[in-house]
Amino acid sequence: MRSKKMIECFALMLVLCSCWSSVNAQLNSTFYDETCPGVFSTVKAAVKQAIANETRMAASLLRLHFHDCFVNGCNGLILLDDAVNFMGEKTAGPNNNSVRGFDVIDTIKAQVEANYSGIVSCADILAIVVRDSVILL
Ligand SMILES: *[C@@H]1O[C@H](CO)[C@@H](O)[C@H](O)[C@H]1NC(C)=O
Ligand SMILES: *[C@@H]1O[C@H](CO)[C@@H](O)[C@H](O)[C@H]1NC(C)=O
Ligand SMILES: *[C@@H]1O[C@H](CO)[C@@H](O)[C@H](O)[C@H]1NC(C)=O
Ligand SMILES: *[C@@H]1O[C@H](CO)[C@@H](O)[C@H](O)[C@H]1NC(C)=O
Repeated sequence: MRSKKMIECFALMLVLCSCWSSVNAQLNSTFYDETCPGVFSTVKAAVKQAIANETRMAASLLRLHFHDCFVNGCNGLILLDDAVNFMGEKTAGPNNNSVRGFDVIDTIKAQVEANYSGIVSCADILAIVVRDSVILL
């Protein structure tokens, strides 16, 4: 039991470390200031609406992001549907019929795309959504 806990702890530390190093390497909070200035307000309004409809959704979105990050980083791949030649993270054992909030992300992505087509990545939208979920809750 004890060693299992330690392994889990170690795995979590590895995830946190890898997130930290990628944060240092690439992220920049003013990245969309010129290309998509509306992204933060759009996301915030939609997250507010989703949480007003169902408070639990805030926690579900945090978990969605966490499960996305666990496999090869926070890349948004958990959002992909399976296809004939592709089995992704969405229906993998720990996620299938358990991770939720996909429709909230789809709605927000569509709202952002409506004004700024092809600019903000799904991975970034997911990260902003989760930041706002935590703050709003
Ligand atoms: C953040 O990204 C924007 C847009 O690419 C760039 O203009 C700005 O210099 C960057 N800021 C930092 C601190 O890297
Ligand atoms: C998109 O454009 C409409 C009309 O100009 C505006 O009302 C809305 O706030 C914009 N959305 C974003 C994400 O900027
Ligand atoms: C509101 O939440 C319920 C579940 O509590 C869900 O079935 C419904 O689709 C949600 N509606 C919107 C507009 O998100
Ligand atoms: C995911 O759940 C659905 C519905 O319960 C099931 O039909 C499907 O086989 C599951 N997929 C995987 C990969 O386990």
